[in-house]
Amino acid sequence: MARDFTAKHVAALPKSGIRKFFDIVAQRKDVISLGVGEPDFDTPWHISRAAVTCLEDGGTHYTSNLGTPELRQAICRYLKRRFNASFAWENETLVTVGVSEAIDLAIRAITEPGDEIIYHEPCFVSYAPTIRMAHGVPVCAETFARDGFRLTVKSLEKIVTPKTKALLLNFPCNPTGAALTLQDMKEITKFVLKHDILLLSDEVYSELVYDRKPASFASFPELKDNLILLNGFSKGWAMTGFRLGFACGPAPLIGTMMKIHQYGIMSAPTLSQAAGVEAMDNGDGDVARMRAEYKRRRDFLVSALNRMGLKTILPKGAFYVFADISKTGLQDEEFCLKLLDSHDVACVPGSAFGACGKGFVRMSYATSMDKIRLAAKRLSDFLKSIT
Ligand SMILES: Cc1ncc(COP(=O)(O)O)c(C=O)c1O
Repeated sequence: MARDFTAKHVAALPKSGIRKFFDIVAQRKDVISLGVGEPDFDTPWHISRAAVTCLEDGGTHYTSNLGTPELRQAICRYLKRRFNASFAWENETLVTVGVSEAIDLAIRAITEPGDEIIYHEPCFVSYAPTIRMAHGVPVCAETFARDGFRLTVKSLEKIVTPKTKALLLNFPCNPTGAALTLQDMKEITKFVLKHDILLLSDEVYSELVYDRKPASFASFPELKDNLILLNGFSKGWAMTGFRLGFACGPAPLIGTMMKIHQYGIMSAPTLSQAAGVEAMDNGDGDVARMRAEYKRRRDFLVSALNRMGLKTILPKGAFYVFADISKTGLQDEEFCLKLLDSHDVACVPGSAFGACGKGFVRMSYATSMDKIRLAAKRLSDFLKSIT
């Protein structure tokens, strides 16, 4: 028998529950997908054009491992303007390949075998596997619909131990759309400082909040030594294909992350970095326009779902609704398969984002209003057909 070369800790990782669904959807025609986690908008042209200009000017070489000085300076200007956050562009800012790479680097830079990292569920599918791949121990804080899926310090206090190295969180949250309040942020800050752990804050949806101003843990100066801010261009600026993100934090940690990045990646794509400068400096209007359209779609979809009898809390941010389908009597995966099969609408089962997502279905409103309207009609027909 051929030798099995696979590392056991990697072989043991589950496949993403989202991918499994998309593989089915890819084989079907006429499906309206509320499954995707990326903006339907094309990148604003002036941002793409900056990449074209960079190419025309011969920008086809590696950049500094940390990222171009121009982009790091632009990121720091943006964080100051938007969140009154201060990071040095020289040694506290690292440009990465999407926020995905920033998350991976941060976890690998801090984790020794057996270190515990707390994260919350339901959450973005990469968190627990990334911690495991770094030989860390993912410790899950469940969040619940009754709290609006907000992460509470009460639940964190129950699972923190002397082995806890960090808390990895995301807000506004994929898949629930939950966002921390200012009060929650103050309490989490106190918790992090009390236990002297590191906060890894994935704020990739920070620009997409609808009824309040965007917030960031980078606005809390007392977290200076205990925070790595993780953010990127994919969601707010509709730049998923550019694969561009960044991490900001204490210089020694950014230096360690840079070491891993330097050996594994070298530098983020040069053309994308040029586009990133334009996004940071001149993209506020585009972000505001896309935000307004997402809000319109969110309001429509949430009221349509509630009218159909699927209890759905109004998400505060990101571009997902997390609908409670438990009263249909179907399991979430079964619900999604049947809906896809009989009415050509694709959603993602809540349990793909953690056990406490069971009984919920994630629907993305990063698709056109016409498609959302049609999907809502099909969903309503589907519900009638199963009752
Ligand atoms: C919470 C969260 N973090 C990170 C990412 C990855 O984003 P990027 O495209 O910047 O790698 C996603 C993408 O869906 C996400 O939802």
